[in-house]
Formats: sequence, structure tokens, C-alpha cells
Amino acid sequence: MGSGTHRPACLVTGVAGFVGSHLAERLLALDYPVVGVDNFCSGFEKNIKHLKNHPGFCFHERSVTEKGLLEDLTRLQPGLRICFHLAAIVSVPYSVEHPEETMEVNYHATVRLLEEAGSNGLAAFVFAGSAAEYGDDPRLPLSEEFASHATHHLSPYGRAKFLASKAVAATPIGASLRCFNIFGPRQDPGSPYSGVISKFIDMALNGQPLTIFGDGLQTRDFIYVADIVEAYLLVAGLVPGKGRPPSGVYNVGTGRSISVLDLAEAVLEVTHRPKALNFLPERPGDIRHSVASIAALNHVGDWIPRVSLHEGLERTVKWMREDG
Ligand SMILES: NC(=O)c1ccc[n+]([C@@H]2O[C@H](COP(=O)([O-])OP(=O)(O)OC[C@H]3O[C@@H](n4cnc5c(N)ncnc54)[C@H](O)[C@@H]3O)[C@@H](O)[C@H]2O)c1
Repeated sequence: MGSGTHRPACLVTGVAGFVGSHLAERLLALDYPVVGVDNFCSGFEKNIKHLKNHPGFCFHERSVTEKGLLEDLTRLQPGLRICFHLAAIVSVPYSVEHPEETMEVNYHATVRLLEEAGSNGLAAFVFAGSAAEYGDDPRLPLSEEFASHATHHLSPYGRAKFLASKAVAATPIGASLRCFNIFGPRQDPGSPYSGVISKFIDMALNGQPLTIFGDGLQTRDFIYVADIVEAYLLVAGLVPGKGRPPSGVYNVGTGRSISVLDLAEAVLEVTHRPKALNFLPERPGDIRHSVASIAALNHVGDWIPRVSLHEGLERTVKWMREDG
């Protein structure tokens, strides 16, 4: 694959998922060989179908809970130097019903992979953390140091992500990206965890009223998937001219929040649908407000989100009309 042969190979776990498939696509476009792993627990074959014929891509249908996984993969691909660990149980309600399984997949498997990364000489280990690590902390904007062992995590998902982020950030090769609400093409509107944006667009395109839980004044920090991917590249040290930022935990959001009600209006505008909203009772456990402080990643790597909400919505609607 030309110049790519000398570039470090990257493992992407959760490659058949929403974010993982975008990350793999971008890495391949930059000529980095990609080893993808997924067990299709919430991801889809269709998300990586277009990558399968790429000479730099190879795929292993395996679980990240398998001991020795990284060792096996480095044997098959000796150039493996970077691990992007995105595979996880992503449904918060599922995590509440299955706390032990969530801890095993989202925390213990991460620690094992991290140890194997260290002993196999990997240069960087980047973990998909989550805003759920802040629980219902009311101090806004949410700053990395706010999440602690004392945080009231609202779900095993949030707790496991927090513990895993801590473990990753404590190693010299590790960085955890605490991602806020990601949206974009390939997000599955049918999944219980899926962001409200994919659900709103799906409802709008199907001529249904948009369902809002509560009064719609709850706010969130929505970030377009391409901006998340650039943050992953940055903390792995793959952005030309920029060194790898120090190990640690970094928020990835826009630093701006929007109410669910205003978001609904924006989706209706982009999809050219008349205003039709359906209010249902607030869901227990829903956080009222959430917005990231993005000063840390900006400080270490000049990172800023580049895609506006409007632009991101337009790209997502286009994709959902054509391929979704
Ligand atoms: N989407 C968001 O808004 C958001 C926000 C914060 C954090 N995150 C985190 O980012 C990561 C990617 O999320 P996503 O939105 O792309 O979700 P996704 O469900 O689309 O992707 C997760 C992928 O991991 C795979 N997977 C799950 N368990 C596995 C296992 N044991 N072995 C191998 N593969 C396994 C799934 O099949 C899926 O393809 C997750 O870790 C998630 O917690 C996502």
C-alpha cells in the first residue's frame, strides 16, 4: 500500500460500530494499516463492508474479553503500535440490568488489553471514555478533574468507563477521551443508546412527530463524529507536526450546549418538516444539563471542533436519506 507499509498499524476495537468505522476509514485514508476487531454485539457488518477490500484493512471477529487477544494480533501484524479501544457495552439501560457483564467488558477487558499493550511494546493506547463518567455532577462546564471515585455514577456503564479511564490515563502510553454526545452517519436510530439526533432525524424523515421526554429544556453537548475522529488521531500522536499529548483524560465535546427542544427545531428545519412534537414523561435517571470544558485538549493539542451542529445535521440527514 505504498507509503503506508512503513506506518504503524492501528488496532481499532469496536470497528463495526458507529465511531469505530469512521475512525478506521480515516486511518486507512491516511495510509495507516488497520486491524479491526468486533463481535457484532451492537455493530454491523454493513458499517465495514466498504473497508473489507482495502489492502490495508484486516478484520477479526473476536471479543475484547478474550485473554491474549492483543498478543495474537501483534503476532499476526508485527507492525501494530497503536490501540484504539472503542468496543464496549454501550447501552446504559442494559448496563443497569447486567452490571457484572458491563464491568467485565467495559472495565476488566480494558485493563487486560492495556497490560498486553504495554508488554507488547505498543506506543499508544487510546480509550473511548464517556461523559457518563461525570454522573449527575451539576458543576458546568464539566472539567476532567470533576470525575472521581466519589462521583455518583448513575449506571454501571458510567462507573466502568470511569474506572477504565483512570487505569488508562495512569499509564505512560494511555489517553482516554471522554466523549460527549456524538452524532453523525451510521449511528443506529434503533439502538437504545443511540443519540437523540439519529432518532429525531429518523422520525422526521418518516413524517412522525419528534418524541421529547420531559419539557425539552434539558441540554446536551452534541459533537459531530468527524471531530471525534480528529481528537483520536491527535491523542495517538498521528497528527503531522504535533507530538502526542501527555497521558491523561481529555474531554471531547463542543463546549456548547443546546436544549433538546431547540435541537428538535433544528432537525425539523434541516429536514424541511412542519413542527410536530410529542411530549412524554421525563425518563428516570436523565441528566438535566451537560456540557464539556474542552480547554484541556485545546491546550495540549490546539484541538477544536470544526463541524457546526447545522453542518453536521445536514451531513447526517443526507446520509440517512441515501443510505440509512
Ligand atoms: N456514541 C456516543 O455518543 C458515545 C459517547 C461517549 C462514549 N462513547 C463510546 O464510544 C465507543 C463507540 O461507541 P459507538 O457509539 O460507536 O457505539 P457502537 O455500539 O456503534 O460501537 C461499539 C462497537 O463495539 C462492539 N463490541 C461490543 N462489545 C464487544 C466485545 N466484547 N468485543 C468486540 N467488540 C465489541 C460492538 O459490536 C460495536 O460494533 C464506545 O466505547 C462508547 O461507550 C460513545
